[in-house]
Amino acid sequence: MTTDFPWLETLQGAAAVDVAARCGLLSDLADGQKCPARPALLEHLLIGAGVTVREAHGLAFTAEFAAAWRADSAAIMARASFIRRAAADVAMGLDEMVFDLPAFMERSATFRLFRYDMAEGTTSEHLNATRPWVDYVEALSRSESPHLVPLINLREGDRILEIGGNTGLMSEALISTYKGVTSRVLDLPAVCALGRERRVVPGLEFCAGDARKPDALAPFDGLIDVVLFKSVLHDWPADDAENMLARAMGILSPGGRVIVCERGAYGPEDAGAKDANTLANMVFSRFYRDPLFYEDIMKRNGFAVTRKSVQLDMMFHATTGTCP
Ligand SMILES: C[S@@+](CC[C@H](N)C(=O)[O-])C[C@H]1O[C@@H](n2cnc3c(N)ncnc32)[C@H](O)[C@@H]1O
Repeated sequence: MTTDFPWLETLQGAAAVDVAARCGLLSDLADGQKCPARPALLEHLLIGAGVTVREAHGLAFTAEFAAAWRADSAAIMARASFIRRAAADVAMGLDEMVFDLPAFMERSATFRLFRYDMAEGTTSEHLNATRPWVDYVEALSRSESPHLVPLINLREGDRILEIGGNTGLMSEALISTYKGVTSRVLDLPAVCALGRERRVVPGLEFCAGDARKPDALAPFDGLIDVVLFKSVLHDWPADDAENMLARAMGILSPGGRVIVCERGAYGPEDAGAKDANTLANMVFSRFYRDPLFYEDIMKRNGFAVTRKSVQLDMMFHATTGTCP
């Protein structure tokens, strides 16, 4: 798949976009403000990345970047910032990423961003700590969901429970594609609060909770046709992932489905990518699993399994288990 974010394909381009966003240059240019002279190096980098051109009156956005910025400036900023963090982690932390994963996670700038502990409350401090990584996750999901929705077959009126559904972007895409579908997103409290702020959609509901708790799914027992996990289970060690999946299967009636939509295992073809965007996946490379891992758990629970896949920034698989 060609990237939606060509300005971030080189590391120097991504870093320059992040710097220019943080110092206010990009929003000034977007507002059509005449900008004072900027350091020549930053201008060169932005021009080199295809973000700006030099015009008689000074710098201006290229037409392509202007359109992308208008469409989703938050996604551009979140991705640029994340690529910088990931690049620093890969450059300085590869030894630990390879030989001592817990030490890598402890020190890495990318893992420090995902403060799930700070998503357990809804004070302004909790929301401020949660917003930056939620912005990044939303940016990814906005690019992915048009390609992933066709892998997920729903029936009219299906009631979805999306576990770790973040601010509901994927659920919203499913609701708008399939007739009569409704969705409940179960996520941590701060994430649900941001979801309610950002996404008021008929048929979409946010339920704050902790999916690791043994009774977290009890309120949904018998009320759900499809349980969806998208890009969630790789976050968890094998035992936790298996427990969450088994509990999800436990609330389904015959014909109900559990769907795991995840990137596949990281391989040489992923490692060979020349686009800085893909550094963002590399920091999670040790966590992505072969879809057979999820398939085996479903089969052990007596579910019939099918799978559809699509190549995005990595291979994505939607593994569906149907309750007998
Ligand atoms: C990597 S993000 C993926 C989000 C979304 N599904 C997507 O693909 O864009 C993982 C999500 O799982 C949520 N999560 C993590 N731990 C959780 C828990 N114990 N209970 C419920 N949700 C959790 C996070 O808050 C986050 O929204």
